[in-house]
Amino acid sequence: MAGVVWLQRRLHDVPAGDEWLSARELDVQARLLVPKRRADWRLGRWTAKAALAMVLAVEPSRVSILAAEDGAPEAFVGDLPLPLPISVSISHRAGLGLVTVSRHVVVGGDLELIEPRSAAFVREWFDEREQVSIAAARDVDRHDELTCLLWSVKEASAKVLREGLRLDPRSAAVVLESDEVADELGRRWRRTTVRWPTEDRVVTGWCRLDGSFVHAIAGARLTSVPVELR
Ligand SMILES: CC(C)(COP(=O)(O)OP(=O)(O)OC[C@H]1O[C@@H](n2cnc3c(N)ncnc32)[C@H](O)[C@@H]1OP(=O)(O)O)[C@@H](O)C(=O)NCCC(=O)NCCS
Repeated sequence: MAGVVWLQRRLHDVPAGDEWLSARELDVQARLLVPKRRADWRLGRWTAKAALAMVLAVEPSRVSILAAEDGAPEAFVGDLPLPLPISVSISHRAGLGLVTVSRHVVVGGDLELIEPRSAAFVREWFDEREQVSIAAARDVDRHDELTCLLWSVKEASAKVLREGLRLDPRSAAVVLESDEVADELGRRWRRTTVRWPTEDRVVTGWCRLDGSFVHAIAGARLTSVPVELR
């Protein structure tokens, strides 16, 4: 498997039945009573199983994705944890699921819909330098894109630390490199770095605009551009 790989699926790809879920996953699903939460969870599981089935060359129905105590997804084949140090990350937004997988480093992936964010949101979640670059964005579209990119990069890196929003995102400083690197299909990615001073950690990664979505992938020492599983 190349460095970091990713896969996207849509809500309508998810089968209506439950035959692809393991017994332990069915227990989890039974506790998800809010329809949107249940649909998002199913989309994440379906996408993760499809990705791991490709990476491990096993039947998707043999893969289980269960949440650790902190909420982070952990993969099993049958009832056994994966023998290799494989890291999986899940994100779902507006009917799209993103799964990121790496065999070498802990990864975090995040998907966001590009939409307007309020001034209060920007003040609350971004440090002063980020607020200045958002304010300097040329027009409304660029402003929304940049806000969303910075936010998604923070979330992806917070998943690497397995803390999510238990950390203070305002304390994390994001650097987006302006140079772009093309992947195998010519999609353009920008390198990212997030410094978390409270954790004394630096998380590298990649991000890109994908139509009306932003896509961010983070991990320690992610040097090669992410590759889509096909
Ligand atoms: C992780 C977190 C940043 C996700 O934010 P989001 O952008 O709203 O949602 P996304 O769709 O991008 O990601 C959701 C996925 O993140 C993953 N995730 C949850 N907690 C995680 C953690 N601590 N570390 C890494 N990944 C985590 C899960 O796979 C989750 O999807 P699932 O529950 O369907 O499996 C956010 O949920 C968070 O901060 N959680 C931890 C702190 C917390 O408040 N926990 C209580 C949650 S009720």
